[in-house]
Amino acid sequence: TRVFVSRDAASVSLGVAQMAQSVMEEAAARGLTLELVHTGSRGLFWLEPLLEVETPEGRIAYGPIRPSDIAGLFKAGFWTGAAHPLRLGCLEEQPYLSRQTRLTFARCGVVDPLSIEDYRAHGGYAGLERALSLEPVAIVDEIKLSGLRGRGGAGFPTGIKWNTVLHAEADQKYIVCNADEGDSGTFADRMLMEGDPFSLIEGMTIAGLAVGATKGFIYIRSEYPYAYRIMTEAVRIAGEAGYLGSSLMGSGRSYTLETRLGAGAYICGEETSLLESLEGKRGMVRAKPPLPALQGLFGKPTVVNNVLSLATVPWILAHSGQAYADLGMGRSRGTLPVQLAGNVKRGGLIELAFGTTLREIIEDFGGGTATGRPIKAVQVGGPLGAYFPASMLDLPLDYEALAAEKGLLGHGGIVVFDDSVDLSQQALFAFEFCAAESCGKCTPCRVGAVRGIEVMDRIIAGLEPEKNFEVLENLCALMTDASLCAMGGLTPVPVMSALTHFPEDFDKAPRMPA
Ligand code: NAI
Ligand code: SF4
Repeated sequence: TRVFVSRDAASVSLGVAQMAQSVMEEAAARGLTLELVHTGSRGLFWLEPLLEVETPEGRIAYGPIRPSDIAGLFKAGFWTGAAHPLRLGCLEEQPYLSRQTRLTFARCGVVDPLSIEDYRAHGGYAGLERALSLEPVAIVDEIKLSGLRGRGGAGFPTGIKWNTVLHAEADQKYIVCNADEGDSGTFADRMLMEGDPFSLIEGMTIAGLAVGATKGFIYIRSEYPYAYRIMTEAVRIAGEAGYLGSSLMGSGRSYTLETRLGAGAYICGEETSLLESLEGKRGMVRAKPPLPALQGLFGKPTVVNNVLSLATVPWILAHSGQAYADLGMGRSRGTLPVQLAGNVKRGGLIELAFGTTLREIIEDFGGGTATGRPIKAVQVGGPLGAYFPASMLDLPLDYEALAAEKGLLGHGGIVVFDDSVDLSQQALFAFEFCAAESCGKCTPCRVGAVRGIEVMDRIIAGLEPEKNFEVLENLCALMTDASLCAMGGLTPVPVMSALTHFPEDFDKAPRMPA
C-alpha cells in the first residue's frame, strides 16, 4: 500500500517527518509492507501532520496525527482506508480544497516532486510540447492573451515584458526566476518549488523559447535550503531526461538552467539587486532605466519573473491563454494563490480566481482568528502592504481594487491580527523593517527609515502629537515620491494605512490620572 506524506518545509515543521517515521516503524514491527511516497504539501496546514493512503476509493487522508494517535490508527487498519476519528476522506472533497480553482498548484501535494514520470502523468510537459511547435511570437501572444500579470507583486503584464525581451537585439538573453520570497506571511513560491519543481523548470524553458534565451537562473533565498536542494535536484533530473540541455525533447533547441542561493538580504528580491547579486556583487538596487528587459543580467536582455508567474506558464500553453483569461475580474485575470497566515484558525494556500473577497478568504476558508477574538486588522501584500480594518473585509482581491484603497495585493500574502494588536507598534515596525533591510543607496529610504523610527517613538510616547504627525506625513510623502525602489517607496503604505484606519491607536496623549 502506498502512503503519501508531505515533506514540504512547513509540514516538516509541524512534525510530519517524525509521524512518518513512527508509522513506518510500527508497520515494520507488524510485518506490514507500506510504501512511503514523499509529496509536497496540499497547503492545508491546520490538518498536518497528515497522511494519505491509496485505496480503491482514491487517496484517503488522516490528520492531524499526534504520536499518541498512531497505535489507534494501526488498530483501526488505516492502510485500508478504514474508519477512525481522524479519517478525513478524500482531501479533494474537503470544502477548503473543493472550493478552490487550482491551476498553478494543481499538482502540488499530489505528485512526487522529483518524479518526472509522475509529472508527465499529471499533465506535465504538455505546455512545452506545444511551445516547441510555435513561433516565439505566437508563444508571447498566448501569454498576452492569458492576461497573466507578474505575481511577484507589481502585477506587470508578463506577455508585454516577454515581448520587450523578444524584440531586443542581443547575442545572449537570459531568463531569471526571482525565488527570493521575502514577504512576511508568504510561502507560495517555496511550496511550489518543494512540491512541483518541474512546473517552474517547464515554465522557464517555455519563456526561453519565447524570447530567444538559452540560459536561465533560479535565484533562491538562503532561508529556503530545502527548496534549493529540491530545485537543484529537479534541474539535474530534467537534464538527464532530455527536458533541459542541448536538444529539448529531441527538438534540437537548447536551454540550460542553474540554481543559485542568495545570502539573506530582503532587498535581493528587488529585481535589479537580485541581478547584482547573481553577478557576484553586493545586492544594491540599480537605477531604472535601463529596464532589465533591455539590459539585465551581465548587461543582456533578461526576463525577470517570479516563481508563480513562470510556473503558471505551462498551464496557459497547455490549456490556452483564453482559458486562463476566462477567470478573474477586471484587469486581474486567472487565479491568485493566496497565502493565509497570522492569527487565523485554518491557515494555508488558497488558489482562487481573482475577485474573491477578503471576507471569504478569512472567514470561509480561514475560519476566523485562532484566538477566537474579533479580527481587528488584516495586512495584505507583505510588510509593505496596507493594514485594513474588519469593516473593509468585503474588498475583492484584485490589483486595482486594492490600489484604489491605497493598498497593494503584492505576492498574495494575507496576515490576520485580532483585537490585541496595536497599530502604532505595527507602523513603528514598518520603519524598523525598512531600516534593517534598506540597501542604503538612496537617502529618502536610508535616512528616512531611521527618522521614521524616531518620530514614531515620539508619537507612541505621546510627545507633541500635532508636530510629530505633521513630520510623519511629510516624511511618508517624501519616501513615497523620492525613493529609488519599492522598499523605501512602499514603507509609507503600512504606516499611513495604520494611521488612516486606526487613528485611536495613535492617540497616545498622556492622560491625567482620574
Ligand atoms: P515595477 O512596477 O518597477 O516593475 C514591475 C516589473 O515590470 C519589473 O520587472 C520591471 O522591470 C518590468 N517593466 C516595467 N516596464 C516594462 C516595460 N516597458 N517592458 C518590460 N518590462 C517592464 O515594480 P518592482 O519594483 O519590480 O516591484 C515592486 C513590487 O514588488 C511591489 O508592488 C511589491 O508588491 C512587490 N514586492 C514583492 C515582494 C515578494 O517577496 N514577492 C517583496 C517586496 C515587494
Ligand atoms: Fe536601497 Fe531603499 Fe533606496 Fe531601494 S529605496 S534603493 S532599498 S535605499
